[in-house]
Formats: sequence, C-alpha cells, structure tokens
Amino acid sequence: EQETTTHIKVYWHDVYSGPSLTAVEVARSPSTNSSKTLFGGVYVIDDALTDGPDLNSSRLVGRAQGMYVSSDKDELAVLMNMNLVFTAGSRYNGSSVAIMGRNSAASGAVREMPVIGGTGIFRWARGYALGTTYAFNISTGDATVEYNVFIRH
Ligand SMILES: *[C@@H]1O[C@H](CO)[C@@H](O)[C@H](O)[C@H]1NC(C)=O
Ligand SMILES: *[C@@H]1O[C@H](CO)[C@@H](O)[C@H](O)[C@H]1NC(C)=O
Ligand SMILES: *[C@@H]1O[C@H](CO)[C@@H](O)[C@H](O)[C@H]1NC(C)=O
Repeated sequence: EQETTTHIKVYWHDVYSGPSLTAVEVARSPSTNSSKTLFGGVYVIDDALTDGPDLNSSRLVGRAQGMYVSSDKDELAVLMNMNLVFTAGSRYNGSSVAIMGRNSAASGAVREMPVIGGTGIFRWARGYALGTTYAFNISTGDATVEYNVFIRH
C-alpha cells in the first residue's frame, strides 16, 4: 500500500474533578507537593478525545490512554506516554497511534511530541503531534489540549 500522511485534529480532555474522572494521580515523591514542577508525580489517563473543544457537546472520537510523569526538576514538563485509540469513523475506528515525548505542559507554547508507532490503519506509523493548551482550570487541574497529529503510515 502507498505511504500516506494523515492529519488528525482532536481535543484531549484531562478531567480531575467531578463524578467522571479521567485523570488520576497514582504516585508522588515526598517533594511532589512542595515543588512547582510536581517532579516525581505519576498520572494515569483515560481521556476523551473529541472533535471540538467542548467536552459535553462535541463528538467523542477516541480515548487517550496511558500516563504522564513529571520529569523535569526545574520547570513543569512531563514525559507523555499514551495511545490515541480511535473509536469513530469507518476509517479510523479500532486503530491507534502511540505518542511518547516531552511536554512542557505549562509553557504556553506549542509542544511537539513524537508519534512512535501505530496499529490498524496506522501500522508502521511515525510522525509528530503538536499540543496547544485550549483551556486550563488552575483550581481543578482540568485541561483541554488541542492536538494536531501528523501521521505517516
Ligand atoms: C459538562 O457537563 C457536566 C455534567 O453534566 C457539567 O457539570 C459541566 O458544567 C459541563 N461543562 C460545560 C463546559 O458545559
Ligand atoms: C467501532 O468499532 C467497534 C468494534 O468493531 C464497533 O462496535 C463500533 O460500533 C464502531 N463504532 C463506530 C462509531 O463505527
Ligand atoms: C474551575 O473549576 C471550578 C470548580 O469546578 C469552577 O468553579 C470554576 O468556575 C472553574 N474555572 C474556570 C475558569 O473555568
């Protein structure tokens, strides 16, 4: 099959508050709290991926499943290690891509993360994802991030 490049735009929702959490802290170091960087914190996610920014009214297109680890002592930056599992559309449903890379989540900048593989239609995938924070609630930790994922497969 001919190699192609697919661009997928999704909104990724970390929900730390309310009755349907999709992000949980599972480990911390003694310094996690005292440090602005949350260094040592480990978080597991099963986040909704939607086609629009509003979690309630947008269409669910998949889940982001995996974890991130706060791994920078000097600023808030995490190692993202997650699968984007697509559940909508006849073309993408059942396929996934794996993302692993550094995410300076609080920087305000666009963060680039490598796509390191995939399954289904995305077998042999490589590429990159650009994450841009769309909304962040500092009191709950809830966040919505726009991900533009460019996948060669
Ligand atoms: C989404 O729905 C939940 C539960 O129905 C509600 O608590 C929340 O305020 C809604 N969020 C938005 C942005 O509308
Ligand atoms: C996605 O695939 C699953 C498993 O084959 C199926 O149950 C589901 O209905 C499909 N969803 C959509 C939106 O096509
Ligand atoms: C952040 O979440 C709190 C608790 O749900 C809510 O009261 C507040 O309005 C939210 N702030 C923003 C900016 O959405």
